[in-house]
Amino acid sequence: MDWASELGAWGAVSVAEEERGAHSGDVSGHAASLPQVVVWPRDGAGVAGILAWANERGVAVTPWGAGTSVEGNPIPVAGGILLSLARMDRILEVSLEGKYGVVEAGVKYRELNRALAGTGLHFAVEVGGDATVGGMIGNNAAGPKAVKYGATKEHVLGLEVVLADGRRMRTGSKAWKQSCGYNLTQLMVGSEGTLGVIIEATVRLTAVPEFVEVLVAEFGSVEEAVGCVGRMRGLDAGALEFLDGSFMGFLGEAERDTLFCEFHREGDGEAAERICLGGGAVSVRRGTEAADRERLWGARLRAYTAAGEAHAGSKLLTTDTAVPLGTFGAMVGYLREELVNRGLVGYLLGHVGDGNLHVILPYKDRAEWEKVKEFSRAAVGRSLELGGTASGEHGVGMGKREHLEAEHGREAVEVMRMIKRGMDPKGILNPGKVLPG
Ligand code: LAC
Ligand code: ZN
Repeated sequence: MDWASELGAWGAVSVAEEERGAHSGDVSGHAASLPQVVVWPRDGAGVAGILAWANERGVAVTPWGAGTSVEGNPIPVAGGILLSLARMDRILEVSLEGKYGVVEAGVKYRELNRALAGTGLHFAVEVGGDATVGGMIGNNAAGPKAVKYGATKEHVLGLEVVLADGRRMRTGSKAWKQSCGYNLTQLMVGSEGTLGVIIEATVRLTAVPEFVEVLVAEFGSVEEAVGCVGRMRGLDAGALEFLDGSFMGFLGEAERDTLFCEFHREGDGEAAERICLGGGAVSVRRGTEAADRERLWGARLRAYTAAGEAHAGSKLLTTDTAVPLGTFGAMVGYLREELVNRGLVGYLLGHVGDGNLHVILPYKDRAEWEKVKEFSRAAVGRSLELGGTASGEHGVGMGKREHLEAEHGREAVEVMRMIKRGMDPKGILNPGKVLPG
């Protein structure tokens, strides 16, 4: 079967080892898997043609944005077609009055924000990777600013989706308020390419804060740091982040448990400084200059990559539990103890403001993988006991499928299976993800 020439009708195609390799893994430790072919459709008609072709033949299709996922979400585990949205990268419309933007799925969120510079509006979600808007919607990405703006799901007004058999579906509208029918937009958000391929999105544009102050506070212990965050509840925080001492070491800073915070109201930085100094901080730095802020935030956004670089030759398993806000300290305490009990190296990195904590665990071989995986299972178990979730922002991908039923119960997972069967009866869309086998 000559896939390349048949699929060539709908976009650029490559079967070159190099391109297949470049689309075989994300930035997680999950094993890479080569697709048979990589296709770059240029428009919705192209995506529709490819899906109709694949559905007829029962060929797996895995959508791909920028490959910056951290849970194996876009890895083509069943081979088949890797459908890259990278060349569908046009900003179709920006309405400053309507406070929305319409973009093709392959637009990078940073590119969108560059295009919006000077307008006073932005797409407010910020993540570490150079992600596409479509990928962020597919995974419901969140990142440091979610404490103020919410996750990607809060910023999607409408979508255009190509269904498994190639039909095109519109969801939602351009209105900021909508209450009309089943919420298919949100069904697609976080569905990780298992229910359809998002090709276009109408996203909310939010006011850029006029005042931004960054505060970095170093503590003697994580408990003190977390305690201070609890006391910052009344402040207008754009981000409330925690990095443990070892991370700070990778970033070339003093090895102290550190809070990275951003405030959007004058006076709140000062108030936070008082809270930190009263709560055990050994040093507090504040900055409102763009250069200072960028340096500090650059370090924060680089953290995951820095852990990888510090452990070159190892892979990384990253936990992503999110617990109810009041239980974050208990979660941190539990995880630190488990690391010690299990003799593991793990780095804590948390979106403290919204209860979302990552432990980054390097591993080299199968035996080490078993140990970090067991730790990750314990972390999820504890999170569920506390009323939390297995995944706050990275999605289910390959690593969290086993927890779906424990988190949601059998009935909810059965409804998810009904939806999957109804929307993708042949199971061609991103097989091996989200739902347990
Ligand atoms: C972060 C990624 C790992 O918070 O979610 O840096
Ligand atoms: Zn994160």
